Amino acid sequence: MKSEQVPRLYRDLAEWYPLLTPVADYAEAADFYWRLLESHCKRAPRTLLDLGSGAGHNAFHLKARLSCTLVDLAPAMLAQSRRLNPECEHAQGDMRSIRLGHSFDGVLVHDAISYMASRADLTRAIVTAFEHTAPGGVALFQPDFVSETFKPGTETGGSDVENRALRYLEWRWRRQPSDETYLTDMVYVLRDASGAVGISHERHVMGLFPRSDWLELIAAAGFDPQVVPFNHSSYGDTGHDVFLGLRPGAVGGE
Ligand SMILES: C[S@@+](CC[C@H](N)C(=O)[O-])C[C@H]1O[C@@H](n2cnc3c(N)ncnc32)[C@H](O)[C@@H]1O
Repeated sequence: MKSEQVPRLYRDLAEWYPLLTPVADYAEAADFYWRLLESHCKRAPRTLLDLGSGAGHNAFHLKARLSCTLVDLAPAMLAQSRRLNPECEHAQGDMRSIRLGHSFDGVLVHDAISYMASRADLTRAIVTAFEHTAPGGVALFQPDFVSETFKPGTETGGSDVENRALRYLEWRWRRQPSDETYLTDMVYVLRDASGAVGISHERHVMGLFPRSDWLELIAAAGFDPQVVPFNHSSYGDTGHDVFLGLRPGAVGGE
């Protein structure tokens, strides 16, 4: 995804993002990531890089325990996060290419990794994570789906804030069962402060790769790879795979 192809949800609709996926909903997952970091880092983790950090909803729940640096492609999402997390470092950049010049005890690439819609892009993002993980540190990747867990389907939701409200339909499908991408058609219904309702649709293209490919790419970057299941209470019957990349080496990177 080039920056000019960033979905509207992360550009002119970014102010509506917290109504689509409220920050409170991230507490359970953030706690799970914290426990993974704590148990896999070779020293007590102190610093975290969040790649594709969006509105900073994970960082909001992690920043009391970790000094967080947040990177996102979309300036409008960084603006949301700066408001929510003024004490965190923010940088605009592409997870496929950014180099900050220092490393972190943990690197988190949450749902944003699903925007890596080709093997080449996924490889670049994993290499970026490796380059920013200190020796003895750990990177976490949580795609929305792997090939083995993908199911076409729909979800609806949304919320109200003060005098605005959003409802959405998320409709996931795949052109061919063998495709390494799936499509998410998003329909947003937006009610503004005047009571006027607008509807907009856009398509997000997401990557879909087998577990074995994830593990191979993580190993090829230089990590020791692992995968753990995460059954978030709101994920229904489909658990998520969280891939870990353990960076070998002595404790005490930067
Ligand atoms: C669903 S949001 C992430 C939400 C985030 N987990 C949170 O805590 O708020 C996905 C984000 O990925 C970002 N993104 C997509 N492709 C990217 C890339 N190549 N590099 C950096 N960020 C990217 C988008 O701009 C968007 O903000």
